[in-house]
Amino acid sequence: MNYRHAFHAGNAGDVLKHLVLLAVLEALQRKDKPLFYLDTHAGRGLYNLGGEAARRSNEAAGGIVALAAASELPPLAQRYLALVGSFNPGGGLEAYPGSPALAAALLRPGDAAALCELQPEEAAALRRLFAEDDHVAVHERDGYEALRGLLPPRQGRGLVLIDPPYERREAEYDLVVDALALAGERWPQGCLAAWYPIKRQEDTDRLVARVAAGGRDAVLRVELTTRPADNRAGLNGSGMILVNAPWQLDQVLERTLPAVHAALAPAGAGAARVQWLVPPR
Ligand SMILES: C[S@@+](CC[C@H](N)C(=O)[O-])C[C@H]1O[C@@H](n2cnc3c(N)ncnc32)[C@H](O)[C@@H]1O
Repeated sequence: MNYRHAFHAGNAGDVLKHLVLLAVLEALQRKDKPLFYLDTHAGRGLYNLGGEAARRSNEAAGGIVALAAASELPPLAQRYLALVGSFNPGGGLEAYPGSPALAAALLRPGDAAALCELQPEEAAALRRLFAEDDHVAVHERDGYEALRGLLPPRQGRGLVLIDPPYERREAEYDLVVDALALAGERWPQGCLAAWYPIKRQEDTDRLVARVAAGGRDAVLRVELTTRPADNRAGLNGSGMILVNAPWQLDQVLERTLPAVHAALAPAGAGAARVQWLVPPR
């Protein structure tokens, strides 16, 4: 396990993932019932964009930094920037909140979160970050295994975010498909979301087709690419596949992502995409 998210914090993939995370949690919180948030691959929770790793990769420049410099953004993107801004009370963009910190900032009194992280140092950082927060439980364990132990939660509603490092290349796509199937069996009413990198179009198409064929409801594909398709140089962009996507999530994202794409890909390469693979019943 060599992956450290500090090199990637606030990049274009994080921007897409965290916009979708915010939109889903906002949609779920429209009802006054407690929710459960499970982050199977949580990372360390909060990142220092001025630190060695982030400066070396400079990936945030093509993500949160570019978005923060854009003007006239749609409301969801503005709320995301305001949330990120709340971690930077002195202004500027030093701290970048990962999915655990963003989700925890949104939790209401009855809500709860479980965060799984396998890498000991990252898990220790996560534990320190949430030491005072009794809504949040940190588990140093395999997030895929945790689906069996932690689902279904006491709260009927909520979200599972599956955000692995894809160090195992194609094998990780299989793990994600299996994890979505398992989570759906154990928690049929839970909203499920998995992030994936977009490298070869055929791998992406196979992943989403397998999830769409899983017999589940409201399967939504959301993608943001900033390079032409099948550009073998590296990552073209990333996507999220959602199962039981909340009502009207497609509309919120359709109103948001074109402007985000324009901010992150000023030369116009790539595209934003929001597509029901299985429409809501
Ligand atoms: C992409 S990062 C997570 C980023 C985080 N979700 C966010 O949005 O801020 C993936 C994390 O998963 C951890 N990891 C790798 N394999 C794991 C596993 N099987 N179970 C739990 N965590 C794992 C890595 O150490 C890494 O911190």
